[in-house]
Amino acid sequence: MNFDRIAPWYRWFEYAVFGRALERRRSALIGEVAEAKQVLVLGDGDGRALVDLLAATPRANIDCVDLSAHMLGLARARAGNARVAYRHTDALSMPLPCQTYDLVVTHFFLDCLSEADMERLLVRVTPALVPSARWIVSEFRQPTVWAASLVRGMYVFFRITAGLRTMGLADHRPIFARHGFRPIRMQTAWGGLMVSELWQREGVGVFP
Ligand SMILES: C[S@@+](CC[C@H](N)C(=O)[O-])C[C@H]1O[C@@H](n2cnc3c(N)ncnc32)[C@H](O)[C@@H]1O
Repeated sequence: MNFDRIAPWYRWFEYAVFGRALERRRSALIGEVAEAKQVLVLGDGDGRALVDLLAATPRANIDCVDLSAHMLGLARARAGNARVAYRHTDALSMPLPCQTYDLVVTHFFLDCLSEADMERLLVRVTPALVPSARWIVSEFRQPTVWAASLVRGMYVFFRITAGLRTMGLADHRPIFARHGFRPIRMQTAWGGLMVSELWQREGVGVFP
């Protein structure tokens, strides 16, 4: 899988299909995490969400991880180097520090992963979090036939343009619950096609 080829046009494809709806999902819950200090952003893409996250979390240092060098280049051009470390690596195998992050952000990234890979991700990321860490998820859902058709179309599109091998949308919610997270906020849009979620790991206090 490689998003390099479509990185320059990614946002134009997005605007053509969804207008600003995905941007609204990405920024929907960032007002709730203003106190975050150490943030891990996985599969950030072209940096639009990173700019908003930086503005919403003035005390945070952010590790921004993406497999696509081109996406990372766009993100760096948009968001700059202050408070952000860009890491060109695979989120499923990169080394992570122990008990460090108080916030993880994944916007439309978990949909690139199979259920097994999602489980693998949670096994790797959870030990890198402080006990009461939060996790913002923006994702697609398939509550209707219409939504399922649109999601299927997107998988075909990304298989052709980016070589995505994942065949369909896995449900991250039971996996998050198994790893000790509970949902504390949720917003849906477009009849349930898109969701913004804020999860919190069971622990004491909100931010340490
Ligand atoms: C569907 S795009 C989503 C981009 C952006 N977050 C958004 O909201 O539109 C998925 C992004 O995750 C990256 N990605 C996919 N699998 C990855 C992995 N295993 N490790 C790191 N980045 C990955 C891709 O390169 C791409 O930039």
